[in-house]
Amino acid sequence: MPDNPLYFSQTLISWYNRHKRNLPWRTTTDPYFIWLSEVILQQTRVNQGLPYYEKFVTTYPTVHELAAAPEDEVLRLWQGLGYYSRARNMHHTARQIVQEFGGNFPGNYNELLKLKGVGSYTAAAIAAFAYKEQVAVLDGNVFRVLARVFGISEDIALPASRKVFQEQADKLVPADEPDTYNQSIMEFGAIQCTPVMPDCLFCPLQQSCFAFTHGLVQELPVKSKAKAARPRYFHYLVFAWQGQYYMRKRLEGDIWQGLYDFYLYEGTDKNLRTEALLSELNPAGINLEQGQLIPPRKDYKHILSHQKITARFYLVNLQNKLSPEVEQEGRLALYSAEKIDELPKPVLISNYLKDAKILLHL
Ligand code: ADE
Repeated sequence: MPDNPLYFSQTLISWYNRHKRNLPWRTTTDPYFIWLSEVILQQTRVNQGLPYYEKFVTTYPTVHELAAAPEDEVLRLWQGLGYYSRARNMHHTARQIVQEFGGNFPGNYNELLKLKGVGSYTAAAIAAFAYKEQVAVLDGNVFRVLARVFGISEDIALPASRKVFQEQADKLVPADEPDTYNQSIMEFGAIQCTPVMPDCLFCPLQQSCFAFTHGLVQELPVKSKAKAARPRYFHYLVFAWQGQYYMRKRLEGDIWQGLYDFYLYEGTDKNLRTEALLSELNPAGINLEQGQLIPPRKDYKHILSHQKITARFYLVNLQNKLSPEVEQEGRLALYSAEKIDELPKPVLISNYLKDAKILLHL
Protein backbone atom coordinates (compact mmCIF):
# COMPACT_ATOMS: atom_id res chain seq x y z
CA MET A 1 0.00 0.00 0.00
CA PRO A 2 1.71 3.22 -1.16
CA ASP A 3 0.36 5.40 1.67
CA ASN A 4 1.46 2.97 4.34
CA PRO A 5 4.59 4.32 6.11
CA LEU A 6 6.11 0.86 6.09
CA TYR A 7 5.71 0.64 2.33
CA PHE A 8 7.67 3.87 1.98
CA SER A 9 10.49 2.90 4.36
CA GLN A 10 10.79 -0.67 3.09
CA THR A 11 10.88 0.49 -0.54
CA LEU A 12 13.65 2.96 0.27
CA ILE A 13 15.62 0.42 2.27
CA SER A 14 15.51 -2.17 -0.48
CA TRP A 15 16.51 0.49 -3.01
CA TYR A 16 19.38 1.46 -0.68
CA ASN A 17 20.61 -2.10 -0.36
CA ARG A 18 20.97 -2.23 -4.13
CA HIS A 19 22.37 1.26 -4.81
CA LYS A 20 24.22 2.54 -1.78
CA ARG A 21 27.75 3.84 -1.97
CA ASN A 22 30.25 2.31 0.41
CA LEU A 23 31.21 5.18 2.67
CA PRO A 24 33.44 4.87 5.72
CA TRP A 25 30.99 6.46 8.18
CA ARG A 26 28.37 3.87 7.28
CA THR A 27 30.33 1.00 8.74
CA THR A 28 30.73 2.46 12.21
CA THR A 29 28.47 3.10 15.17
CA ASP A 30 31.05 5.26 16.94
CA PRO A 31 29.32 8.59 17.62
CA TYR A 32 32.61 10.47 17.24
CA PHE A 33 33.12 9.30 13.63
CA ILE A 34 29.47 9.83 12.80
CA TRP A 35 29.54 13.32 14.24
CA LEU A 36 32.71 14.23 12.29
CA SER A 37 31.23 12.95 9.04
CA GLU A 38 27.94 14.76 9.52
CA VAL A 39 29.57 18.08 10.37
CA ILE A 40 31.70 17.80 7.22
CA LEU A 41 28.79 16.66 5.06
CA GLN A 42 26.67 19.61 6.11
CA GLN A 43 29.31 21.69 4.46
CA THR A 44 29.97 19.80 1.26
CA ARG A 45 29.09 16.88 -0.96
CA VAL A 46 30.23 13.34 -0.32
CA ASN A 47 33.03 13.32 -2.92
CA GLN A 48 34.58 16.52 -1.68
CA GLY A 49 33.96 15.63 1.96
CA LEU A 50 35.62 12.19 1.88
CA PRO A 51 39.25 13.38 1.88
CA TYR A 52 38.46 15.79 4.71
CA TYR A 53 36.88 13.00 6.72
CA GLU A 54 39.96 10.80 6.17
CA LYS A 55 42.28 13.64 7.21
CA PHE A 56 40.33 14.28 10.40
CA VAL A 57 40.05 10.67 11.51
CA THR A 58 43.72 10.03 10.80
CA THR A 59 44.93 13.16 12.56
CA TYR A 60 42.47 12.84 15.44
CA PRO A 61 41.56 9.15 15.90
CA THR A 62 39.47 9.94 18.98
CA VAL A 63 37.69 12.95 20.41
CA HIS A 64 40.59 13.30 22.87
CA GLU A 65 43.12 14.15 20.14
CA LEU A 66 40.72 16.62 18.55
CA ALA A 67 40.10 18.29 21.89
CA ALA A 68 43.84 18.58 22.53
CA ALA A 69 44.68 20.04 19.11
CA PRO A 70 45.51 23.73 18.67
CA GLU A 71 42.72 25.70 16.97
CA ASP A 72 45.02 26.82 14.13
CA GLU A 73 45.67 23.19 13.23
CA VAL A 74 41.97 22.28 13.20
CA LEU A 75 41.18 25.28 11.01
CA ARG A 76 44.05 24.39 8.69
CA LEU A 77 42.65 20.86 8.20
CA TRP A 78 39.22 22.36 7.57
CA GLN A 79 40.66 24.84 5.06
CA GLY A 80 38.64 24.94 1.85
CA LEU A 81 35.38 23.74 3.37
CA GLY A 82 34.27 27.25 4.28
CA TYR A 83 31.97 28.33 7.11
CA TYR A 84 34.80 28.16 9.62
CA SER A 85 32.58 28.67 12.67
CA ARG A 86 31.53 25.03 12.12
CA ALA A 87 35.10 23.91 12.64
CA ARG A 88 35.50 26.14 15.68
CA ASN A 89 32.25 24.86 17.18
CA MET A 90 33.29 21.30 16.48
CA HIS A 91 36.57 21.87 18.28
CA HIS A 92 34.78 23.51 21.20
CA THR A 93 32.35 20.60 21.42
CA ALA A 94 35.20 18.09 21.41
CA ARG A 95 36.67 19.88 24.44
CA GLN A 96 33.29 19.94 26.16
CA ILE A 97 32.84 16.20 25.58
CA VAL A 98 36.26 15.45 27.04
CA GLN A 99 35.98 17.86 29.98
CA GLU A 100 32.35 17.35 30.97
CA PHE A 101 31.62 13.82 29.80
CA GLY A 102 34.98 12.11 30.09
CA GLY A 103 35.18 11.67 26.33
CA ASN A 104 31.77 9.98 25.92
CA PHE A 105 29.11 11.45 23.69
CA PRO A 106 25.69 12.06 25.29
CA GLY A 107 23.59 8.98 24.70
CA ASN A 108 20.37 10.29 23.17
CA TYR A 109 18.86 12.92 20.88
CA ASN A 110 17.77 15.37 23.59
CA GLU A 111 21.10 15.31 25.38
CA LEU A 112 23.04 15.62 22.12
CA LEU A 113 21.04 18.74 21.25
CA LYS A 114 22.55 20.54 24.24
CA LEU A 115 26.04 20.45 22.72
CA LYS A 116 27.36 23.60 21.09
CA GLY A 117 26.92 23.62 17.34
CA VAL A 118 24.82 20.45 17.41
CA GLY A 119 21.43 21.24 15.94
CA SER A 120 18.48 18.98 15.30
CA TYR A 121 20.03 17.59 12.12
CA THR A 122 23.32 16.49 13.70
CA ALA A 123 21.68 15.27 16.91
CA ALA A 124 19.24 13.14 14.91
CA ALA A 125 21.99 11.74 12.70
CA ILE A 126 24.14 10.68 15.66
CA ALA A 127 21.15 9.31 17.60
CA ALA A 128 19.87 7.30 14.64
CA PHE A 129 23.20 6.03 13.25
CA ALA A 130 25.06 5.43 16.52
CA TYR A 131 22.23 4.54 18.93
CA LYS A 132 19.43 3.36 16.61
CA GLU A 133 17.09 5.90 18.19
CA GLN A 134 13.81 6.27 16.30
CA VAL A 135 14.29 9.87 15.11
CA ALA A 136 14.06 11.37 11.62
CA VAL A 137 17.07 13.05 10.07
CA LEU A 138 16.08 16.07 7.97
CA ASP A 139 18.54 17.49 5.48
CA GLY A 140 18.16 19.04 2.03
CA ASN A 141 17.91 15.62 0.40
CA VAL A 142 15.17 14.52 2.77
CA PHE A 143 13.21 17.75 2.30
CA ARG A 144 13.25 17.18 -1.45
CA VAL A 145 12.14 13.53 -1.30
CA LEU A 146 9.32 14.29 1.13
CA ALA A 147 8.15 17.37 -0.79
CA ARG A 148 7.88 15.34 -3.98
CA VAL A 149 6.54 12.03 -2.71
CA PHE A 150 3.97 13.57 -0.34
CA GLY A 151 3.24 16.75 -2.31
CA ILE A 152 4.35 19.16 0.42
CA SER A 153 4.45 22.66 -1.03
CA GLU A 154 5.75 24.67 1.95
CA ASP A 155 8.78 26.75 1.07
CA ILE A 156 11.82 24.78 2.24
CA ALA A 157 13.84 28.00 2.56
CA LEU A 158 11.61 29.16 5.43
CA PRO A 159 12.43 27.89 8.92
CA ALA A 160 8.70 27.74 9.73
CA SER A 161 8.19 25.01 7.12
CA ARG A 162 10.39 22.63 9.04
CA LYS A 163 7.56 21.63 11.36
CA VAL A 164 5.42 20.34 8.49
CA PHE A 165 8.28 18.27 7.12
CA GLN A 166 9.28 17.05 10.56
CA GLU A 167 5.74 15.80 11.25
CA GLN A 168 5.67 13.86 8.00
CA ALA A 169 9.21 12.55 8.50
CA ASP A 170 8.53 11.35 12.04
CA LYS A 171 5.72 9.10 10.80
CA LEU A 172 8.03 7.25 8.45
CA VAL A 173 10.91 6.06 10.63
CA PRO A 174 10.63 2.32 11.28
CA ALA A 175 11.31 1.28 14.88
CA ASP A 176 13.60 -1.61 13.98
CA GLU A 177 15.91 0.07 11.45
CA PRO A 178 16.01 3.82 12.04
CA ASP A 179 19.71 3.86 11.08
CA THR A 180 19.39 2.14 7.71
CA TYR A 181 16.17 3.97 6.90
CA ASN A 182 17.69 7.42 7.51
CA GLN A 183 20.73 6.56 5.42
CA SER A 184 18.38 5.29 2.70
CA ILE A 185 16.31 8.43 2.36
CA MET A 186 19.38 10.67 2.29
CA GLU A 187 21.06 8.45 -0.28
CA PHE A 188 17.89 8.28 -2.33
CA GLY A 189 17.79 12.10 -2.43
CA ALA A 190 21.46 12.27 -3.35
CA ILE A 191 21.38 9.70 -6.16
CA GLN A 192 17.86 9.07 -7.44
CA CYS A 193 15.59 11.96 -6.48
CA THR A 194 18.14 14.63 -7.45
CA PRO A 195 17.37 18.37 -7.66
CA VAL A 196 17.54 18.48 -11.46
CA MET A 197 16.74 15.53 -13.72
CA PRO A 198 15.66 13.03 -11.08
CA ASP A 199 15.54 9.47 -12.38
CA CYS A 200 11.75 9.11 -12.25
CA LEU A 201 11.70 6.52 -14.99
CA PHE A 202 13.43 3.95 -12.82
CA CYS A 203 12.07 5.09 -9.48
CA PRO A 204 10.56 2.48 -7.15
CA LEU A 205 8.24 5.14 -5.69
CA GLN A 206 7.07 6.39 -9.07
CA GLN A 207 3.43 5.33 -8.73
CA SER A 208 3.06 6.59 -5.19
CA CYS A 209 4.87 9.88 -5.77
CA PHE A 210 2.59 12.91 -5.67
CA ALA A 211 4.92 15.05 -7.79
CA PHE A 212 5.31 12.36 -10.47
CA THR A 213 1.63 11.50 -10.72
CA HIS A 214 0.65 15.20 -10.84
CA GLY A 215 3.42 16.33 -13.21
CA LEU A 216 4.97 18.53 -10.51
CA VAL A 217 8.47 17.08 -10.28
CA GLN A 218 10.06 20.32 -11.51
CA GLU A 219 7.91 22.43 -9.16
CA LEU A 220 8.66 20.56 -5.96
CA PRO A 221 10.22 21.29 -3.58
CA VAL A 222 9.29 24.98 -3.45
CA LYS A 223 12.35 27.00 -2.52
CA SER A 224 12.35 30.80 -2.54
CA LYS A 225 15.44 32.55 -3.80
CA ALA A 226 17.98 33.83 -1.31
CA LYS A 227 18.44 37.57 -1.46
CA ALA A 228 21.33 38.89 -3.54
CA ALA A 229 24.76 38.63 -1.99
CA ARG A 230 26.31 41.86 -0.70
CA PRO A 231 29.31 42.97 -2.76
CA ARG A 232 32.53 43.73 -0.85
CA TYR A 233 35.83 45.06 -2.20
CA PHE A 234 38.99 43.99 -0.43
CA HIS A 235 42.32 45.68 -1.12
CA TYR A 236 45.10 43.68 0.44
CA LEU A 237 48.51 45.16 1.04
CA VAL A 238 51.01 42.33 1.13
CA PHE A 239 53.93 43.75 3.04
CA ALA A 240 57.05 41.79 2.19
CA TRP A 241 60.42 42.04 3.85
CA GLN A 242 63.37 39.87 2.93
CA GLY A 243 61.32 36.93 1.73
CA GLN A 244 58.91 37.06 4.65
CA TYR A 245 55.38 38.38 4.69
CA TYR A 246 53.25 40.23 7.18
CA MET A 247 50.01 38.45 8.03
CA ARG A 248 47.42 38.77 10.77
CA LYS A 249 44.83 36.60 12.39
CA ARG A 250 41.26 37.75 11.77
CA LEU A 251 39.15 38.63 14.75
CA GLU A 252 35.53 37.85 15.47
CA GLY A 253 32.71 39.99 14.15
CA ASP A 254 33.30 39.34 10.45
CA ILE A 255 33.90 36.43 8.12
CA TRP A 256 36.90 34.10 8.50
CA GLN A 257 37.38 34.45 12.25
CA GLY A 258 40.62 32.78 13.29
CA LEU A 259 42.02 32.57 9.75
CA TYR A 260 45.04 34.55 8.53
CA ASP A 261 45.14 37.22 5.85
CA PHE A 262 47.05 40.41 5.07
CA TYR A 263 46.68 44.07 5.89
CA LEU A 264 43.23 44.86 4.55
CA TYR A 265 41.75 48.07 3.32
CA GLU A 266 38.09 47.61 2.46
CA GLY A 267 36.88 50.02 -0.20
CA THR A 268 33.56 50.84 -1.79
CA ASP A 269 34.56 49.63 -5.25
CA LYS A 270 37.28 47.62 -6.88
CA ASN A 271 39.48 50.56 -7.78
CA LEU A 272 41.76 51.61 -5.00
CA ARG A 273 42.14 55.36 -4.78
CA THR A 274 45.65 56.14 -3.68
CA GLU A 275 44.54 59.13 -1.61
CA ALA A 276 42.17 56.95 0.35
CA LEU A 277 44.85 54.42 1.02
CA LEU A 278 47.46 57.00 1.94
CA SER A 279 45.12 58.69 4.36
CA GLU A 280 44.65 55.30 5.96
CA LEU A 281 48.32 54.42 6.05
CA ASN A 282 50.08 57.71 6.79
CA PRO A 283 48.78 58.06 10.33
CA ALA A 284 49.92 54.49 10.90
CA GLY A 285 53.39 55.58 9.87
CA ILE A 286 53.48 53.41 6.76
CA ASN A 287 55.08 55.31 3.97
CA LEU A 288 54.48 53.67 0.64
CA GLU A 289 57.16 55.84 -0.93
CA GLN A 290 59.86 53.88 0.84
CA GLY A 291 58.66 50.62 -0.58
CA GLN A 292 57.95 49.40 -4.02
CA LEU A 293 54.30 48.84 -4.63
CA ILE A 294 53.51 46.24 -7.27
CA PRO A 295 49.98 46.68 -8.57
CA PRO A 296 47.56 43.75 -8.72
CA ARG A 297 47.58 41.55 -11.78
CA LYS A 298 44.04 40.32 -11.50
CA ASP A 299 40.84 40.39 -9.51
CA TYR A 300 40.09 37.49 -7.19
CA LYS A 301 36.44 36.68 -6.73
CA HIS A 302 35.13 34.73 -3.81
CA ILE A 303 31.49 33.92 -3.27
CA LEU A 304 30.11 33.25 0.18
CA SER A 305 26.49 32.59 1.00
CA HIS A 306 25.63 36.26 1.60
CA GLN A 307 28.66 38.09 0.30
CA LYS A 308 30.44 38.45 -3.02
CA ILE A 309 34.03 39.47 -2.50
CA THR A 310 36.31 41.01 -5.10
CA ALA A 311 39.89 41.19 -3.89
CA ARG A 312 43.04 42.80 -5.22
CA PHE A 313 46.50 42.23 -3.84
CA TYR A 314 49.19 44.91 -3.84
CA LEU A 315 52.64 43.61 -3.08
CA VAL A 316 54.68 46.13 -1.10
CA ASN A 317 58.38 45.37 -0.91
CA LEU A 318 59.53 47.07 2.26
CA GLN A 319 63.07 48.31 2.76
CA ASN A 320 62.63 48.28 6.52
CA LYS A 321 60.52 46.22 8.84
CA LEU A 322 57.29 47.79 10.02
CA SER A 323 57.67 49.59 13.32
CA PRO A 324 56.61 47.70 16.46
CA GLU A 325 53.72 50.19 16.87
CA VAL A 326 52.41 49.51 13.36
CA GLU A 327 52.82 45.79 13.84
CA GLN A 328 50.87 45.97 17.04
CA GLU A 329 48.20 48.32 15.74
CA GLY A 330 47.63 46.15 12.65
CA ARG A 331 48.19 42.91 14.62
CA LEU A 332 50.73 42.06 11.90
CA ALA A 333 53.56 39.59 12.25
CA LEU A 334 56.22 38.38 9.82
CA TYR A 335 56.01 34.82 8.57
CA SER A 336 58.25 32.74 6.34
CA ALA A 337 56.70 30.88 3.41
CA GLU A 338 57.03 27.59 5.32
CA LYS A 339 55.15 29.00 8.28
CA ILE A 340 52.50 30.55 6.04
CA ASP A 341 51.91 27.13 4.56
CA GLU A 342 50.87 25.87 8.00
CA LEU A 343 48.55 28.75 8.85
CA PRO A 344 44.82 28.36 8.25
CA LYS A 345 43.88 30.73 5.45
CA PRO A 346 40.79 31.58 3.40
CA VAL A 347 40.91 29.90 -0.02
CA LEU A 348 41.04 33.36 -1.59
CA ILE A 349 44.35 34.00 0.19
CA SER A 350 45.72 30.55 -0.70
CA ASN A 351 44.92 31.17 -4.35
CA TYR A 352 46.81 34.42 -4.30
CA LEU A 353 49.78 32.86 -2.51
CA LYS A 354 49.92 30.18 -5.17
CA ASP A 355 49.68 32.64 -8.09
CA ALA A 356 52.30 34.90 -6.52
CA LYS A 357 54.55 31.85 -6.12
CA ILE A 358 54.89 32.57 -2.43
CA LEU A 359 53.60 29.09 -1.76
CA LEU A 360 54.67 26.50 -4.27
CA HIS A 361 53.07 23.33 -3.03
CA LEU A 362 49.42 23.69 -2.10
N1 ADE B 1 24.97 13.63 3.65
C1 ADE B 1 24.76 13.91 4.93
N2 ADE B 1 24.88 12.84 5.69
C2 ADE B 1 25.19 11.82 4.87
C3 ADE B 1 25.45 10.47 5.06
N3 ADE B 1 25.44 9.94 6.27
N4 ADE B 1 25.74 9.73 3.98
C4 ADE B 1 25.77 10.29 2.77
N5 ADE B 1 25.52 11.57 2.52
C5 ADE B 1 25.26 12.32 3.55
